[in-house]
Amino acid sequence: MPARLDHTIVHSTDRFASARFLTGLLGEPGPGSFGPFATVRVANGVTIDFADSIVGRDRIVLQHLAFLVSEDEFDEIFARIGDRGLPYWGGPHHQEPQRINHRHHGRGVYVDDPDGHAIEFLTHPYVEEE
Ligand SMILES: [Fe+2]
Repeated sequence: MPARLDHTIVHSTDRFASARFLTGLLGEPGPGSFGPFATVRVANGVTIDFADSIVGRDRIVLQHLAFLVSEDEFDEIFARIGDRGLPYWGGPHHQEPQRINHRHHGRGVYVDDPDGHAIEFLTHPYVEEE
């Protein structure tokens, strides 16, 4: 039986700022607090634990967090991205600026969190392209 991911730790310069950035885009209250972490629990029970990094911002190893959302949720999130005036991309490495993508039979978009972690929202799981 495969294990289920329970939590992951994301290093940040300001754990609550990073967690609020994410909950704000998701339209969720919070974040929570648990020990040294600012926590964001997502629909499948995984908790993203933002931790203040002990290294400088330039040494934080950037991660990629992808969130599967419904079409309606994507519309809401994309509106929040626009409301905040955030730069966004259709590709994971800052390709296709100010565009969304339509890969994998859905829509997808990438934004940077306050430390530069790539935050992806997509409406359909990845499928192998032919
Ligand atoms: Fe991805």
